[in-house]
Amino acid sequence: MSKYKIGVLGAGTMGSGIAQVAAQNGHETILVDVSQEMLTKAEAGLDKILARLVEKEKISTIDKGDIQGRISYSTEMEDFKGCGLIIEAIVEKLDVKHSVFKKMETIVSKDCILASNTSSLSIASIGSALTHSERIIGIHFFNPAPLMPLVEIIPAVQTSDEVLQKAKTLIDNWGKSTVVCKDTPGFIVNRVARPFYGEALRIYEEGIADFATIDWAMTEIGGFRMGPFTLMDYIGNDVNYAVTESVFAAFYFDPRFKPSFTQKRHSEAGFYGRKSGRGFYNYAEGVALPEPKKDMKLGQMIVDRILAMLINEAYDAVLMQVASAEDVDKAMTKGVNYPKGLLAWAKEIGPEKILEQLESLFKEYCEDRYRPNVLLKREVNA
Ligand SMILES: NC(=O)c1ccc[n+]([C@@H]2O[C@H](COP(=O)([O-])OP(=O)(O)OC[C@H]3O[C@@H](n4cnc5c(N)ncnc54)[C@H](O)[C@@H]3O)[C@@H](O)[C@H]2O)c1
Repeated sequence: MSKYKIGVLGAGTMGSGIAQVAAQNGHETILVDVSQEMLTKAEAGLDKILARLVEKEKISTIDKGDIQGRISYSTEMEDFKGCGLIIEAIVEKLDVKHSVFKKMETIVSKDCILASNTSSLSIASIGSALTHSERIIGIHFFNPAPLMPLVEIIPAVQTSDEVLQKAKTLIDNWGKSTVVCKDTPGFIVNRVARPFYGEALRIYEEGIADFATIDWAMTEIGGFRMGPFTLMDYIGNDVNYAVTESVFAAFYFDPRFKPSFTQKRHSEAGFYGRKSGRGFYNYAEGVALPEPKKDMKLGQMIVDRILAMLINEAYDAVLMQVASAEDVDKAMTKGVNYPKGLLAWAKEIGPEKILEQLESLFKEYCEDRYRPNVLLKREVNA
């Protein structure tokens, strides 16, 4: 297969990383942004990243020159002419995305695939701006794109099978782990991962444990790489809260996805996390992080509760045909580094134990949030 030219629109965090991946995989790549400043920054950033790869002997100096030689930078979308695929990674605003997709369609040939890297908008709504909407598809990379192996491939109701197969094969050939998922809010990862934050916040809000203790339990007992509060501080409370709010609204306010006042207040106060120097923790120099209460019984209770909620969400994604069980597990291990796939984890613990845990929460709270998924029930009762 000939390596066609790849276009990337938006030279920010995601677009610059995606352009790097395309060029590293031998494609002539054109990175376009309205801002010359962002393009200059992206070019300098790539030089630094590749220099580090040379230092670590991951690539040669010749490779570095070849990769850089394959990427060109422009403020003009007209330079997308001749592309076989364009991946859009600009601001998360539907009206702006509509206008750029309309314009792109006038520049490229009719078989050029037009993809969006959106995290929260529906692919169908973006594709509605196109005359040939069968060419729209979601290609959702994770941050940082060159390092994170997972890519969610999201066909919209308009997408043709040919476009889906072509896009998936291409990204597979780039050495990424792809999962195909339905065009539903949060796709796989941003949907299934919600209780990791939401239930941890709820446990804190009820006064069951503090941030440090919950983080300790989830890492030391649960085996997660980062505790929920450390992770929210890393992502940014403003960003993480906005995702939760948008998923909650997109699911017609299902209480399973209810945002938390604690995170909202932290965000309102400017306690965004690492980037602002303070989030759930204070990162100022000389300030020690709080010590967890290392109570094994309490810790296990925290892990069991959050894990049961995560597993329930994974079952729901499979029930609602968002993706196959195998892909849901692949997404959570490759996209957010979970120690095990949630459905495989459920089998290991015993689905009846997970169901018991959820039924007991549901009975105690009488809240819809804790309702056990029907697929889990069917599995236990089979
Ligand atoms: N940041 C993440 O962790 C992440 C992860 C996955 C997906 N996404 C999605 O990727 C997209 C981009 O996110 P980001 O974090 O890279 O944003 P960013 O703010 O870092 O970069 C956006 C870039 O788009 C440019 N831009 C804005 N309007 C434009 C236009 N009309 N034409 C050309 N360029 C334009 C801006 O100048 C900027 O350089 C969003 O849809 C977001 O939801 C983000």
